[in-house]
Amino acid sequence: MSKKATIEFDGKKYEFPIVVGTENEVAIQIKSLRGDTGGLITLDPGYKNTGSCESAITFLNGEEGILRYRGYAIEELADNASFLEVAYLLIFGELPTQQQLDKLYADIKRESNVDEEMKKILDGFPKSAHPMGVLSSLTSALIAFNPSAVNVDSEEDMYNAIIKLLAKFPVLVAWTLRKRQGQPLDYGDSSLGYVENILKMMFKKPSENYEVDPVVASALNKLLILHADHEQNCSTSTVRIVGSSHAGLFASISAGISALWGPLHGGANQAVIEMLEGIKQDGGDTKKYMKKAKDKNDPFRLMGFGHRVYKNFDPRAKIIKKSADEVLGKLGVQDPVLDIAKGLEKEALEDSYFVDRKLYPNVDFYSGIIYRALGIPTEMFTVMFALGRLPGWIAQWREMRLKKEPIGRPRQVYTGENLRSFKPMENR
Ligand code: ACO
Repeated sequence: MSKKATIEFDGKKYEFPIVVGTENEVAIQIKSLRGDTGGLITLDPGYKNTGSCESAITFLNGEEGILRYRGYAIEELADNASFLEVAYLLIFGELPTQQQLDKLYADIKRESNVDEEMKKILDGFPKSAHPMGVLSSLTSALIAFNPSAVNVDSEEDMYNAIIKLLAKFPVLVAWTLRKRQGQPLDYGDSSLGYVENILKMMFKKPSENYEVDPVVASALNKLLILHADHEQNCSTSTVRIVGSSHAGLFASISAGISALWGPLHGGANQAVIEMLEGIKQDGGDTKKYMKKAKDKNDPFRLMGFGHRVYKNFDPRAKIIKKSADEVLGKLGVQDPVLDIAKGLEKEALEDSYFVDRKLYPNVDFYSGIIYRALGIPTEMFTVMFALGRLPGWIAQWREMRLKKEPIGRPRQVYTGENLRSFKPMENR
């Protein structure tokens, strides 16, 4: 007999089915709660206990530090796969054959042109604009140049929209950087691989040759894979909920970029480096900042620490920490900020405040250090995160549309004024 959960309310008992996932995660299915009980809803600010969907894309177990894309361990993917293979895996469910991968990349190359008119939109931004704002706007603007709605019942339509985004997004990423640096815009070099081409589009100077450093390309490939999906986090939930209104793919992704921008989410990678730099400039006294982080009257938080779901360690942070040492070593970069980061991590891991609250370094504690070693400016870090997360957002949007999920529309418990009479201006 299938399991059920019982809720007792106002002297009556109501039964609800239990949904069990393939990794034995259990959930009370409360679809009929409000109707059955005559108005009862659940209240869960921040959705700490609320599942918004059933999804077959990414499995993570925060207690055991497990992260898998479509069943494959993140550690194996980071060591063996290319970012484009992982993108295919996330979006279409299986690792591609060589033929499927070649077709994917050939299709991407064919679609990599961004309409010249888009440059006028970019020109409207001051150089000082934050790249995440620019990227979100440009992604949204893509709709104007690709206006036909995606028929989600047509596999071909879906595929074409996805290809367009995978093709044009890296160009927009590179343009946000080049605009900031006063460099002419570039469309890259289709003879290169996806990741290598991104590097060239970002860094090639007009009067110089640009040779892609394989160490840099491999490090970026790994970082993009580690960021590629993370189930129902803030930006992904945003993409799904915007898409649930049947807004198009580009509009949904643009909203996801805005959600990612915040320092409590993707913006943490920029905030970490700024924090570490600040500590360095202040004499490198990590103890002082540990004290600040623990002081409830001080708004300072140790950026790059803590995670909504990982409560023992973030598997991505483990991979990145090792990678940071390797990449800096191979590139011959000595970064004093890495020593501050290691010092802070050691102190935090031995401090009861952090241990009791299960606060561990997250993926972004070390990613900024690698991005810096690769020559990527600090304010572009979150943009790099967006580039990595793109396949995950697309996969989640596609899954949501194919399953024909209803529009996302949470309820609330109203706590405002009861009905009152309109007060004329002179009486206020
Ligand atoms: N520094 C100091 N204290 C912290 C930190 C931190 N980084 N993170 C959490 N805490 C404390 C909180 O003050 C709270 O203490 P209390 O119980 O005494 O009130 C307790 O730990 C629980 O924290 P919450 O904010 O309730 O945890 P939540 O799950 O809501 O937040 C979050 C998770 C947002 C990631 C948080 O840990 C944080 O702000 N971290 C710093 C920002 C960061 O690194 N974000 C990146 C996340 S990873 C990503 O998006 C890719």
